[in-house]
Amino acid sequence: MKAFRILTAGLAGLMIAASAHAAGGAAHPHAPEEGWPFEGVTGQFDQASLQRGYQVYQEVCSSCHSMKLLSYRNLGDPGGPFYDPDYPNPNDNPFVKALAAQNEILSPTPNEAGDYDFRPATPADRFRSPYPNDNAARAANGGAVPPDLSVITKARHGGASYVYSLLAGYPDDEVFKERVVTEATDDAPAEVQTVIDTSKLHIGHGDDHHYEGYLIQNVGQYYNPYMPGDTVPQFEGDPRHAPPGGFLAMPPQLVPGRVEYSDGTEATIEQMSYDVAQFLAWAGEPKQGNRRSLGLAVMVYLGILAILLWFSYKRIWRNVEH
Ligand code: HEC
Repeated sequence: MKAFRILTAGLAGLMIAASAHAAGGAAHPHAPEEGWPFEGVTGQFDQASLQRGYQVYQEVCSSCHSMKLLSYRNLGDPGGPFYDPDYPNPNDNPFVKALAAQNEILSPTPNEAGDYDFRPATPADRFRSPYPNDNAARAANGGAVPPDLSVITKARHGGASYVYSLLAGYPDDEVFKERVVTEATDDAPAEVQTVIDTSKLHIGHGDDHHYEGYLIQNVGQYYNPYMPGDTVPQFEGDPRHAPPGGFLAMPPQLVPGRVEYSDGTEATIEQMSYDVAQFLAWAGEPKQGNRRSLGLAVMVYLGILAILLWFSYKRIWRNVEH
């Protein structure tokens, strides 16, 4: 009986701990419904998706985020978005050359007069950075530096699923309300505040929580349920039922049709988030495909070796009593 009581007390304790955990922190990042093609032992990146993902990065994200570890040439590497077996050397790949040339970069080598000119990038150049330095980036983004995206899926818990969930996870327009804080006077306009009606929030699949209250969104800060942080200080309501997530300085970037895909795929928010997250996962580990095929070859080799060893063992000890 005593043991039973201890057990129930322990279970109750665990449940309280679990529910307390659910109230704080960020929403758990989720993979797209169909999963990621690059996961699993034999998983590979989907090349068409990588191409669309590069388009999203180039047309949307690259105005704020650098990818300093990548050169345009990498786009044409084996396993890369624009790999073409006719051009084993990506520096010769005409498509990669054209993509590089769409970007004007400051030449890293001086001209004859000793100055640095802008010129179209070549496959050998690093990706163009939107800002010359972090201070310029901070000044342009309300005090926050947009992080370099070269290895972002490695740097964040949840990887590609996190990037996907974050981009597609900003709340819908219908939850926002404008609230007048101070009425307009003769010499000052009304002060207006943006609040989120959290009872209308739907976070992730199968989220049956109810967040009754209002979340105050300060100017230049945007609520996202997947951003690690704490919403309690800005929540008007029962703090135990504050919604998960936090605030970040990046406004929502994707609206339907934000890019026009050249392969005709419909540019929904989910689709663009999926493609750019897959592209960033590839960028963080461009050699994953090679590593997987090598791993498989090594396993097959070891298997054959094991069989041969077994037979030679049998043969060598054939006439020996043991
Ligand atoms: C208008 C500028 C701007 C654009 C465009 C933009 N971002 Fe951001 N992004 C930011 C800023 C600023 C931050 C830093 C936010 C903070 O720390 O509060 C950020 C942060 C991020 C983060 C990190 C969040 C974290 O966990 O710290 C990711 C991932 C990200 N952006 C991805 C993207 C992707 C992908 C795109 C293109 C679809 C994109 N961003 C477009 C400004 C931008």
